[in-house]
Amino acid sequence: MSSYADPRIVALYDALNPAAADTAFYLALAESAGHIVDLGCGTGLLACELAMRGYKVTGIDPSAPMLRVARACAHAHGERVTWIEGDASALPFVAPADLLLMTGHVAQVFLDDATFLATLVAARRAVRRGGRIAFESRNPNARAWERWTPEHSRRRVSGPDGRGVEVWQELHETPDPLISARAAFTTHYRFDDGETLSAKSELRFRSRDELARLLNDAGFAQIDWYGNWDCAPVTDESPELIAVAS
Ligand SMILES: C[S@@+](CC[C@H](N)C(=O)[O-])C[C@H]1O[C@@H](n2cnc3c(N)ncnc32)[C@H](O)[C@@H]1O
Repeated sequence: MSSYADPRIVALYDALNPAAADTAFYLALAESAGHIVDLGCGTGLLACELAMRGYKVTGIDPSAPMLRVARACAHAHGERVTWIEGDASALPFVAPADLLLMTGHVAQVFLDDATFLATLVAARRAVRRGGRIAFESRNPNARAWERWTPEHSRRRVSGPDGRGVEVWQELHETPDPLISARAAFTTHYRFDDGETLSAKSELRFRSRDELARLLNDAGFAQIDWYGNWDCAPVTDESPELIAVAS
């Protein structure tokens, strides 16, 4: 089962992915935007942070369990976000955006270029003239998958029900992702009460040139690149390829 389909795994998402430097980067980028679309908003952490700061926010995600967490968080904070269960095909029904975000490496869930390009085209149409889109993808040269092993990834968190859980990743035996441009792995969950769960994932790794070509094909002429959340320029070793495109 996918990590985004099982409510027991979804319940752990925010504990495993709390607000961090990426959140701060996107909050800063939002400055002066009116309407922000968060495509692939997941559990809505960023969407709610933006709404709390007064932005009009639309959060879109295909996973009903992820959106259920998002709605509960928004409700708890009395925030008003428009939540849509869907994907980029919902964008034509959304008011024009000043900024469209795809955070948390959403770009890498698009395994084939055709689907990612269709999403980028829809994103370009969804932003008003002068608007921007922004997303990040892990830099393949930084070989993040090498740390998706039990030894490097094992950690403990507590779920919202207070249950402790040990979580680790296991990279599948596949061709070198630097060549195949894909990495498949299983995330394992072992709860203190003995329950065990696992979820398979596969992510696409694209180089900056590949991302730039897809953005250009989607109609984006201007792309600013950053290699990390401190706005450092992209180098071979940069962990991230962060694109801000208009
Ligand atoms: C790693 S989570 C990122 C969630 C959130 N943006 C964050 O920063 O934490 C990836 C999200 O992408 C969503 N997703 C999967 N396929 C998608 C698609 N075709 N279009 C938009 N979102 C998608 C998943 O449901 C999941 O919530």
